[in-house]
Amino acid sequence: MKKRVSMLLMLVAALMLALVGCGAKEDKSSGSAPAEDGGSGKKVYKVGTEATFAPFESIDDKGNIVGIDVDILQAIADEMNFEVEWQNIGWEPVFQTIKNGETDIGASGITITEERKQSFDFTEPYYESQLLIVVKEDSKIKSLAELKDKKVSVQINATGHLAAKKLQGDASTNIMAFENQPVAIQEMLNGNVDAAIGDNAVVYEYIKAHPDQKLKVIEDDAFDKEYYGFMVQKGNKELLNLLNEGLQKIKDNGKLKEITGSDFK
Ligand code: ARG
Repeated sequence: MKKRVSMLLMLVAALMLALVGCGAKEDKSSGSAPAEDGGSGKKVYKVGTEATFAPFESIDDKGNIVGIDVDILQAIADEMNFEVEWQNIGWEPVFQTIKNGETDIGASGITITEERKQSFDFTEPYYESQLLIVVKEDSKIKSLAELKDKKVSVQINATGHLAAKKLQGDASTNIMAFENQPVAIQEMLNGNVDAAIGDNAVVYEYIKAHPDQKLKVIEDDAFDKEYYGFMVQKGNKELLNLLNEGLQKIKDNGKLKEITGSDFK
């Protein structure tokens, strides 16, 4: 009997703890405007990402979102005295949730393009990137031009997808578009396509992480230079200015270079 009572007490205590936990969480994320953090009184901005894009964002052993984008945004947040709450929501939702206000910032190795600028606002650029081609080690492909009538895999609605469409035409049935870049590379390795197109730093990181997969990359200056920026809802001048000011600070004090390892300013 005694045992039963104490077990019951433990149960009640656990329940109460769980409830308190929920309450705290709810406070933080309610409403679409940036919430105030209970403890610090700082504004909390929600950040959307697609975290299969190492070294910019990936999930570590403990389930945390980590990477260059996380470090840059944290450095900006520290400079400008706000907090960020990351959500791994998938590539296309990164755009949709900025539009409908469910997230505040898109941070996902997002290339600033003229087309995206019609619907979103972007910070100043923080990283220079370029697309490249990945093929199997024994492939004969040597250039982008040779992909004109080849099967290629890309991440859907990423700049690699746009490049493939530009080469083969919007309606081409030789383009296979996937949820993320690693899957696009995997499809090529499986022999379902002749080549994959992806962002250079991310492809190189993938190769480093998969030394057993026999891959070869082809760099081609037919691909434009691209620049990554953080994305906010169109017209959100307040947040854009905050991010740009912080970004400028970490460009000036060397922190950005320390994080990315790149000289880009
Ligand atoms: N830079 C490319 C683009 O903006 C690909 C970005 C993909 N990012 C990601 N986290 N999956 O279209």
